[in-house]
Amino acid sequence: MDVKFHWNKAYENSTTEKLGWYEDYPGPSLQLIKKCHFDKDATLLNVGVGESTLIDELLKSGYTNIIGSDISSIALKKIKQRTGLLGHDVKWIIDDLTNSKKLIDLPQVDLWHDRAVLHFFTEKKDQEAYFDLLDELVKTKGYVIIAAFNKNGAIKCSGLPVFRYNKEMLEKRLGNDFQCLDSFDFAYTMPGGDKRPYIYTLFQRIG
Ligand SMILES: C[S@@+](CC[C@H](N)C(=O)[O-])C[C@H]1O[C@@H](n2cnc3c(N)ncnc32)[C@H](O)[C@@H]1O
Repeated sequence: MDVKFHWNKAYENSTTEKLGWYEDYPGPSLQLIKKCHFDKDATLLNVGVGESTLIDELLKSGYTNIIGSDISSIALKKIKQRTGLLGHDVKWIIDDLTNSKKLIDLPQVDLWHDRAVLHFFTEKKDQEAYFDLLDELVKTKGYVIIAAFNKNGAIKCSGLPVFRYNKEMLEKRLGNDFQCLDSFDFAYTMPGGDKRPYIYTLFQRIG
């Protein structure tokens, strides 16, 4: 399966609001970001950003150092258009989290935010590449927010199989350098009305 092709098609074939993962307001992510008490110039990296409205909310809150990255050039083109002039200040990066060529060269960040991306990596080598990249990129005292389908979640998303998580699995993957500060289950309602149970986690790098 050509991952880039799959995601470009998904974004080409749908309006933003009809995407099966669309959030009008990214409440659970913002709730966790609030707990981090970031300065306005903190580096906030949203991996697999898609067309997420989290970027709009971060811009509205006055954050000046936002990075949005995705494997899909179509998603980035659409989110750039939507965020308009404000979005000019966002650094947009096309890259593959399982084989990074660009993110890997960035200076370390204060926040790694992932909603609905990690669970698509079903193969061990892709999961390892993802966590190695995260490990390289997050500063000491920096934060990690991961929201993934939980153990009661669907077994597919966007037609692709997913690997589901609970808090303990994420703690194990991140290891002793990261401390879990918060976690909760959250039932996301899709545009069509179906529910998708997620686990949201907030970690801080302590080592
Ligand atoms: C379900 S969408 C979630 C989008 C966004 N995080 C949100 O909450 O609206 C999954 C996103 O992960 C991106 N993605 C999938 N595989 C990727 C990879 N290997 N590297 C980077 N991004 C990837 C897709 O292009 C898509 O935008």
